[in-house]
Amino acid sequence: MGTFMLCKHVSTLPQFLPRGLIVRTAQTAAATAPKADARLKTFSIYRWDPDVPGKKPKMQTFKVDLNSCGPMVLDALIKIKNEVDPTLTFRRSCREGICGSCAMNICGVNTLACTCKIDESLSKTTKIYPLPHMYVIKDLVPDMNNFYQQYKSIQPWLHKKEEGKLGQKQNLQSVEDRAKLDGLYECILCACCSTSCPSYWWNGNRYLGPATLMQAYRWVIDSRDEATEERLGKLKDRFSVYRCHTIMNCTKTCPKVTNIFILTG
Ligand code: FES
Repeated sequence: MGTFMLCKHVSTLPQFLPRGLIVRTAQTAAATAPKADARLKTFSIYRWDPDVPGKKPKMQTFKVDLNSCGPMVLDALIKIKNEVDPTLTFRRSCREGICGSCAMNICGVNTLACTCKIDESLSKTTKIYPLPHMYVIKDLVPDMNNFYQQYKSIQPWLHKKEEGKLGQKQNLQSVEDRAKLDGLYECILCACCSTSCPSYWWNGNRYLGPATLMQAYRWVIDSRDEATEERLGKLKDRFSVYRCHTIMNCTKTCPKVTNIFILTG
Protein backbone atom coordinates (compact mmCIF):
# COMPACT_ATOMS: atom_id res chain seq x y z
CA MET A 1 0.00 0.00 0.00
CA GLY A 2 1.43 3.38 -0.93
CA THR A 3 2.09 5.88 1.82
CA PHE A 4 1.21 9.46 1.07
CA MET A 5 3.42 11.88 2.95
CA LEU A 6 2.21 15.18 1.54
CA CYS A 7 2.72 17.86 4.17
CA LYS A 8 0.82 20.70 2.55
CA HIS A 9 -2.82 21.07 3.43
CA VAL A 10 -3.49 24.78 3.67
CA SER A 11 -2.29 27.37 1.27
CA THR A 12 0.03 28.98 3.80
CA LEU A 13 2.28 25.95 4.20
CA PRO A 14 5.09 24.83 1.88
CA GLN A 15 4.38 21.81 -0.25
CA PHE A 16 6.40 18.62 -0.15
CA LEU A 17 5.59 15.94 -2.66
CA PRO A 18 5.71 12.27 -1.73
CA ARG A 19 9.15 10.68 -1.89
CA GLY A 20 9.75 9.20 -5.32
CA LEU A 21 7.00 11.23 -6.93
CA ILE A 22 7.46 11.74 -10.65
CA VAL A 23 5.80 14.82 -12.03
CA ARG A 24 4.79 14.64 -15.65
CA THR A 25 3.10 17.46 -17.47
CA ALA A 26 0.88 17.70 -20.53
CA GLN A 27 0.71 13.93 -20.62
CA THR A 28 -2.95 13.66 -21.46
CA ALA A 29 -5.03 15.27 -24.16
CA ALA A 30 -8.02 17.49 -23.56
CA ALA A 31 -11.27 15.82 -22.56
CA THR A 32 -12.71 16.55 -25.99
CA ALA A 33 -11.11 17.90 -29.16
CA PRO A 34 -10.72 21.60 -28.31
CA LYS A 35 -12.90 24.07 -30.19
CA ALA A 36 -11.61 27.43 -31.36
CA ASP A 37 -13.21 29.21 -28.43
CA ALA A 38 -12.27 26.52 -25.91
CA ARG A 39 -11.24 27.62 -22.42
CA LEU A 40 -8.75 24.91 -21.58
CA LYS A 41 -8.02 24.53 -17.90
CA THR A 42 -5.17 22.34 -16.70
CA PHE A 43 -5.64 19.91 -13.82
CA SER A 44 -2.68 18.12 -12.31
CA ILE A 45 -3.89 15.03 -10.47
CA TYR A 46 -2.15 12.57 -8.16
CA ARG A 47 -2.17 9.07 -9.61
CA TRP A 48 -1.13 5.80 -8.04
CA ASP A 49 -2.22 2.32 -9.03
CA PRO A 50 -1.63 -0.46 -6.47
CA ASP A 51 -2.21 -3.12 -9.11
CA VAL A 52 0.99 -2.27 -10.97
CA PRO A 53 3.83 -3.60 -8.77
CA GLY A 54 6.72 -1.18 -8.31
CA LYS A 55 4.93 1.68 -9.99
CA LYS A 56 5.52 4.96 -8.20
CA PRO A 57 3.00 7.74 -7.70
CA LYS A 58 2.99 10.50 -10.28
CA MET A 59 1.15 13.68 -11.15
CA GLN A 60 -0.82 13.49 -14.39
CA THR A 61 -2.14 16.53 -16.22
CA PHE A 62 -5.47 16.80 -17.99
CA LYS A 63 -6.92 19.67 -19.97
CA VAL A 64 -10.63 20.35 -19.64
CA ASP A 65 -12.69 22.81 -21.68
CA LEU A 66 -14.52 24.87 -19.07
CA ASN A 67 -17.18 25.75 -21.67
CA SER A 68 -18.47 22.19 -21.50
CA CYS A 69 -17.80 21.48 -17.84
CA GLY A 70 -19.78 22.16 -14.68
CA PRO A 71 -18.48 24.80 -12.26
CA MET A 72 -17.07 22.56 -9.53
CA VAL A 73 -13.84 20.59 -9.31
CA LEU A 74 -15.85 17.39 -8.97
CA ASP A 75 -17.50 18.19 -12.32
CA ALA A 76 -14.05 18.32 -13.92
CA LEU A 77 -13.01 15.03 -12.30
CA ILE A 78 -16.19 13.33 -13.52
CA LYS A 79 -15.68 14.76 -17.01
CA ILE A 80 -12.10 13.49 -17.11
CA LYS A 81 -13.22 10.07 -15.92
CA ASN A 82 -16.10 9.91 -18.43
CA GLU A 83 -14.29 11.28 -21.45
CA VAL A 84 -10.56 10.74 -21.06
CA ASP A 85 -9.44 8.21 -18.48
CA PRO A 86 -11.97 5.84 -16.87
CA THR A 87 -9.27 4.54 -14.53
CA LEU A 88 -9.11 7.84 -12.63
CA THR A 89 -10.35 6.88 -9.17
CA PHE A 90 -12.03 9.08 -6.57
CA ARG A 91 -14.96 8.91 -4.17
CA ARG A 92 -18.15 10.90 -4.60
CA SER A 93 -21.83 10.45 -3.96
CA CYS A 94 -24.21 13.32 -3.14
CA ARG A 95 -22.53 16.08 -5.16
CA GLU A 96 -23.89 18.67 -2.73
CA GLY A 97 -21.59 18.74 0.29
CA ILE A 98 -23.57 16.31 2.42
CA CYS A 99 -21.93 12.89 2.28
CA GLY A 100 -18.32 13.96 2.75
CA SER A 101 -16.97 11.32 0.40
CA CYS A 102 -15.30 13.67 -2.13
CA ALA A 103 -12.89 15.21 0.40
CA MET A 104 -9.47 15.79 -1.13
CA ASN A 105 -6.64 18.31 -1.19
CA ILE A 106 -7.29 20.93 -3.90
CA CYS A 107 -4.68 23.63 -4.50
CA GLY A 108 -3.24 23.03 -1.05
CA VAL A 109 -6.52 23.06 0.88
CA ASN A 110 -8.45 20.09 2.21
CA THR A 111 -12.00 20.55 0.96
CA LEU A 112 -14.94 18.94 -0.82
CA ALA A 113 -14.51 18.65 -4.58
CA CYS A 114 -18.27 19.01 -5.12
CA THR A 115 -18.49 22.41 -3.42
CA CYS A 116 -15.10 23.74 -4.55
CA LYS A 117 -15.43 26.07 -7.54
CA ILE A 118 -12.94 25.67 -10.36
CA ASP A 119 -10.50 28.57 -10.46
CA GLU A 120 -11.24 29.89 -13.96
CA SER A 121 -7.83 31.47 -14.37
CA LEU A 122 -6.54 29.44 -17.32
CA SER A 123 -2.91 30.25 -16.63
CA LYS A 124 -3.05 28.50 -13.26
CA THR A 125 -2.93 24.74 -12.85
CA THR A 126 -5.30 23.20 -10.31
CA LYS A 127 -3.40 20.56 -8.35
CA ILE A 128 -5.38 17.78 -6.74
CA TYR A 129 -4.09 15.26 -4.19
CA PRO A 130 -5.69 12.78 -1.81
CA LEU A 131 -6.20 13.89 1.80
CA PRO A 132 -2.73 14.40 3.29
CA HIS A 133 -0.88 11.85 5.33
CA MET A 134 -3.30 9.03 4.78
CA TYR A 135 -2.56 5.64 3.25
CA VAL A 136 -3.67 5.77 -0.35
CA ILE A 137 -5.81 2.98 -1.77
CA LYS A 138 -5.75 4.33 -5.33
CA ASP A 139 -5.38 7.79 -6.91
CA LEU A 140 -7.52 10.19 -4.82
CA VAL A 141 -8.98 7.52 -2.53
CA PRO A 142 -7.51 7.45 1.00
CA ASP A 143 -7.90 4.58 3.46
CA MET A 144 -10.45 5.82 6.03
CA ASN A 145 -10.44 2.74 8.28
CA ASN A 146 -8.49 4.28 11.16
CA PHE A 147 -10.64 7.41 11.04
CA TYR A 148 -13.90 5.42 11.19
CA GLN A 149 -12.58 3.13 13.94
CA GLN A 150 -11.79 6.18 16.04
CA TYR A 151 -15.27 7.56 15.41
CA LYS A 152 -16.77 4.22 16.45
CA SER A 153 -14.69 4.25 19.65
CA ILE A 154 -16.57 7.25 21.06
CA GLN A 155 -19.90 5.41 20.71
CA PRO A 156 -21.65 8.13 18.72
CA TRP A 157 -25.22 7.45 19.73
CA LEU A 158 -27.59 8.40 22.57
CA HIS A 159 -26.94 6.58 25.86
CA LYS A 160 -29.61 6.19 28.52
CA LYS A 161 -28.96 4.73 31.98
CA GLU A 162 -32.23 2.84 32.23
CA GLU A 163 -32.18 -0.17 29.99
CA GLY A 164 -35.00 -0.09 27.49
CA LYS A 165 -35.69 3.58 28.07
CA LEU A 166 -34.47 4.42 24.61
CA GLY A 167 -37.19 4.31 22.04
CA GLN A 168 -40.05 4.03 24.56
CA LYS A 169 -40.82 7.72 24.53
CA GLN A 170 -39.61 10.88 22.93
CA ASN A 171 -36.38 12.31 24.26
CA LEU A 172 -37.37 15.92 24.54
CA GLN A 173 -34.93 18.80 24.67
CA SER A 174 -35.35 22.50 25.41
CA VAL A 175 -34.71 25.03 22.68
CA GLU A 176 -31.66 26.26 24.63
CA ASP A 177 -30.20 22.76 24.95
CA ARG A 178 -30.86 22.05 21.29
CA ALA A 179 -29.00 25.23 20.37
CA LYS A 180 -25.88 23.82 22.04
CA LEU A 181 -25.63 21.33 19.18
CA ASP A 182 -25.42 24.06 16.54
CA GLY A 183 -22.02 24.06 14.92
CA LEU A 184 -21.59 20.40 15.90
CA TYR A 185 -24.33 18.42 14.18
CA GLU A 186 -23.35 19.81 10.77
CA CYS A 187 -20.16 17.72 10.69
CA ILE A 188 -20.27 15.25 7.78
CA LEU A 189 -17.16 13.30 8.82
CA CYS A 190 -15.28 14.15 5.64
CA ALA A 191 -11.96 14.10 7.57
CA CYS A 192 -10.73 17.36 6.03
CA CYS A 193 -9.98 18.67 9.54
CA SER A 194 -8.24 15.64 10.99
CA THR A 195 -6.05 15.18 7.93
CA SER A 196 -5.00 18.84 8.03
CA CYS A 197 -3.75 18.49 11.62
CA PRO A 198 0.02 17.96 12.04
CA SER A 199 -0.56 16.43 15.46
CA TYR A 200 -2.93 13.90 13.90
CA TRP A 201 -0.34 13.16 11.20
CA TRP A 202 2.23 12.19 13.83
CA ASN A 203 -0.07 10.51 16.38
CA GLY A 204 -3.04 9.42 14.28
CA ASN A 205 -3.08 5.99 15.91
CA ARG A 206 -3.66 7.34 19.44
CA TYR A 207 -4.76 10.97 19.13
CA LEU A 208 -8.43 11.02 18.09
CA GLY A 209 -8.13 14.15 15.96
CA PRO A 210 -10.53 17.09 15.63
CA ALA A 211 -13.40 15.35 13.82
CA THR A 212 -13.79 12.53 16.34
CA LEU A 213 -13.20 14.85 19.30
CA MET A 214 -15.87 17.21 18.09
CA GLN A 215 -18.27 14.28 17.77
CA ALA A 216 -17.33 13.15 21.29
CA TYR A 217 -18.13 16.63 22.57
CA ARG A 218 -21.39 16.62 20.62
CA TRP A 219 -22.62 13.68 22.78
CA VAL A 220 -21.17 15.01 26.03
CA ILE A 221 -23.01 18.31 25.59
CA ASP A 222 -26.29 16.68 24.50
CA SER A 223 -28.79 17.20 27.36
CA ARG A 224 -30.53 13.91 26.53
CA ASP A 225 -27.44 11.77 26.93
CA GLU A 226 -26.81 10.14 30.32
CA ALA A 227 -23.29 8.78 29.89
CA THR A 228 -21.24 11.94 30.35
CA GLU A 229 -18.97 10.49 33.05
CA GLU A 230 -18.27 7.34 31.06
CA ARG A 231 -17.62 9.29 27.89
CA LEU A 232 -15.18 11.66 29.60
CA GLY A 233 -13.51 8.76 31.41
CA LYS A 234 -12.73 7.04 28.12
CA LEU A 235 -10.95 10.15 26.86
CA LYS A 236 -8.78 10.43 29.97
CA ASP A 237 -5.33 9.51 28.74
CA ARG A 238 -2.30 11.32 27.40
CA PHE A 239 -3.17 10.97 23.73
CA SER A 240 -6.89 10.88 22.93
CA VAL A 241 -7.47 14.59 23.60
CA TYR A 242 -4.23 16.09 24.82
CA ARG A 243 -2.30 15.90 21.58
CA CYS A 244 -4.31 18.90 20.38
CA HIS A 245 -1.85 21.80 20.30
CA THR A 246 -4.36 24.45 19.14
CA ILE A 247 -2.79 24.65 15.70
CA MET A 248 -6.29 25.45 14.38
CA ASN A 249 -5.84 24.03 10.88
CA CYS A 250 -8.99 22.03 11.59
CA THR A 251 -11.13 25.14 11.96
CA LYS A 252 -9.49 26.84 9.03
CA THR A 253 -10.09 24.03 6.58
CA CYS A 254 -13.55 22.73 7.62
CA PRO A 255 -15.77 22.90 4.49
CA LYS A 256 -18.92 22.90 6.63
CA VAL A 257 -17.67 25.69 8.91
CA THR A 258 -18.40 23.65 12.03
CA ASN A 259 -17.46 24.84 15.47
CA ILE A 260 -14.29 22.84 16.05
CA PHE A 261 -12.85 25.87 17.79
CA ILE A 262 -14.97 25.21 20.87
CA LEU A 263 -12.71 22.28 21.67
CA THR A 264 -9.63 24.36 21.84
CA GLY A 265 -10.77 27.93 22.29
S1 FES B 1 -20.00 14.20 -3.16
FE1 FES B 1 -20.94 14.25 -1.19
S2 FES B 1 -19.84 15.80 -0.16
FE2 FES B 1 -19.03 15.86 -2.16
